[in-house]
Amino acid sequence: MNDFEENVRKALVDPQNQGEMSDADSVGTVGSPECGDMLRMWLKFTEKDGQKVIDRASFQSFGCQTAIAVASMATELLKGKTLDQARALSAQELSGDLGALPPMKIHCGQLVEGALRNALDGSVAAPSPTQVPTLSDQMKQPTGKLKIRFQQPEGERDA
Ligand code: FES
Repeated sequence: MNDFEENVRKALVDPQNQGEMSDADSVGTVGSPECGDMLRMWLKFTEKDGQKVIDRASFQSFGCQTAIAVASMATELLKGKTLDQARALSAQELSGDLGALPPMKIHCGQLVEGALRNALDGSVAAPSPTQVPTLSDQMKQPTGKLKIRFQQPEGERDA
């Protein structure tokens, strides 16, 4: 196991800032055309020294372990950043202490970057996060080519 994989494994033991944010000011959702994974990010803003900054960020993911680890790292990194500072962060930068994303995992980091940008772009007229369909609901909707099936837990199958 290389350093990056080991860091991802450690981050997944206790992912930070997972889950919906009921009082969010903005929400962004993005899906990866490469693998079909989806990630949603919520942002809460505050005012610091006369500037609008990110107070808190949270995420929900139907994605791979790398996307979850990067989102965990990114939501910590974003605290206190101005919107311009946040918008300037690349997928590699959002990976923080996980280390450089290997080529096969770059799109996983870009999933996080995309959700962040989507949330930042929606910040002017943010929809009420409670009116946004859940990520789970959104994934259950037919998307054309991509078909996602949710498995029943062992005990509930063929009951
Ligand atoms: Fe899809 Fe990582 S494999 S986001």
